[in-house]
Amino acid sequence: MAALSQIIFYSMVTLILVFSALIILILALTFTKSSPRVMSSDAAPVANLGRDELLSCFLSTSSSAAALAQVSVTWERKDLSALVYKFDNGAPDLAKQAPQYKDRTQVFPGQLVSGNASLLLRSVRSGDGGVYTCTISSSGGGGTVNINLRAAAFSAPTFNVSGDALRALAGGWLPEPDVTWADAAGRPLSANTSVELSAAGTFSVASALPSVNASSTYTCSIHSRLVAAVSEATVAQDYSVSAKTEFYFGAAPSLLAPAYLNIITSVLCIYS
Ligand SMILES: *[C@@H]1O[C@H](CO)[C@@H](O)[C@H](O)[C@H]1NC(C)=O
Ligand SMILES: *[C@@H]1O[C@H](CO)[C@@H](O)[C@H](O)[C@H]1NC(C)=O
Ligand SMILES: *[C@@H]1O[C@H](CO)[C@@H](O)[C@H](O)[C@H]1NC(C)=O
Ligand SMILES: *[C@@H]1O[C@H](CO)[C@@H](O)[C@H](O)[C@H]1NC(C)=O
Repeated sequence: MAALSQIIFYSMVTLILVFSALIILILALTFTKSSPRVMSSDAAPVANLGRDELLSCFLSTSSSAAALAQVSVTWERKDLSALVYKFDNGAPDLAKQAPQYKDRTQVFPGQLVSGNASLLLRSVRSGDGGVYTCTISSSGGGGTVNINLRAAAFSAPTFNVSGDALRALAGGWLPEPDVTWADAAGRPLSANTSVELSAAGTFSVASALPSVNASSTYTCSIHSRLVAAVSEATVAQDYSVSAKTEFYFGAAPSLLAPAYLNIITSVLCIYS
């Protein structure tokens, strides 16, 4: 009897597995055969104030070889009635462009035939944050995608040892950041941190980790609501410091504690 119920049990499990595999196969086929869609490689970018930002938007087609014709692109912002940018009939059409985007925006006309309608936004300002919509229409189909752009300010800290403290300095942060330190084993360390609002309207960070040891590596994490800069700073035998900083974007604040940062590997960008 036990054997029979076991056979039934394993048959059921096998059936469930076979059906799951079938469903996955069907979904995969539907996906590959689906009509062209407008997509973004980053629908929630965080831009650094004063820098240029590329807002990604492209038409994803299965028949990638064929060049598209009659490509028209409209970039809008949900909270603005005027346009951010428009390209139609082979040329920019900027009659209805909002004044703050004048001379700061462009698409790449040579890329449009392959469905790439990404927008270059020059010298990002704090007022540029918002939900943008990219609408493509073309001979090969079209659609719309939303991109939630956040404007922040961030920079990698510089380090040195003076006295017996490892000091980190970073200018140009917005919104206001916090600083946390940890040793090589990830144990939190307490430090002297000051965050000051500068004349430029951004925050400057100075933090000193006392009693550091030679031939040791420390992690300094400067994190705001939108960005975390995580630096591995190694104090050499001669107390010179070498550091490497990685930026993490758009993580939830609760995930910004150094111990959790290893998990967020998907959106990282290495600045030396
Ligand atoms: C679209 O074009 C821009 C500008 O040339 C380029 O940086 C970007 O990688 C392109 N995106 C895609 C998906 O091809
Ligand atoms: C390095 O140390 C000097 C003083 O010893 C200080 O003025 C300077 O700001 C420090 N730089 C950094 C990056 O901490
Ligand atoms: C920490 O701050 C206190 C008070 O501001 C100061 O006296 C002390 O020297 C600081 N320590 C370091 C390591 O900078
Ligand atoms: C440096 O080493 C000493 C002795 O092992 C230790 O007590 C101290 O916490 C270390 N300093 C830091 C910042 O980890």
